[in-house]
Amino acid sequence: MNQDLYDNARRLVGAVTRGLSARQGEGVAEVLERLSEQDIGEAAFQEPAPKGLPVLVCLPQCIGETMLLDPDLAAAIAAVEDALQWRQSASYTDHVLGAGFTANYGWAEIIGPHGFFAGSDFLLGLLMLGPERHYPDHYHPAPELYWPLTSGSFWSRDGKSFDMKAQGATIWHPAMALHATITNDMPLLAAWCWTSATATPAKLKWA
Ligand SMILES: [Fe+2]
Repeated sequence: MNQDLYDNARRLVGAVTRGLSARQGEGVAEVLERLSEQDIGEAAFQEPAPKGLPVLVCLPQCIGETMLLDPDLAAAIAAVEDALQWRQSASYTDHVLGAGFTANYGWAEIIGPHGFFAGSDFLLGLLMLGPERHYPDHYHPAPELYWPLTSGSFWSRDGKSFDMKAQGATIWHPAMALHATITNDMPLLAAWCWTSATATPAKLKWA
């Protein structure tokens, strides 16, 4: 076993847990309860096959900004960044989402089948979205929490208007709620969590 990577993965889960424990928003308690049920012991540790994506060109800037919010979390992300398997949803193509979208989007699991611990119908991960992007209305049966670690992202739920969410805010999407995200001149790094019903992928409203 790669002891350093295991320790760093635990440190990352711990930093997310501490950060969310300091917040009161909708869904946070559900995430923390489900997180506490996940096995992050040595026997459950797995090494993802590392994979990068073009959007990672924005990651150093995002980690630098995360330092201003939560230095422990920023350091914990930096410590595992080369070990993460960055992925994209199979149905998300530039043809569907617009030229350049796939070069500016990606997510990685921390807990999940492709993360450091498989999890039990539970996903915890990181999302990146490049500047000037619109991740349009989509939905899924998994209740979802987003925790933007950078500033200047805009969020819509249930087809309503977009609200700017501060760095460190939490955003809750109940099961099947329509939601969308926009970035302006800053890239977005966010932690995210699916608390259950993880087998069904997200579906775009109009795809
Ligand atoms: Fe979602």
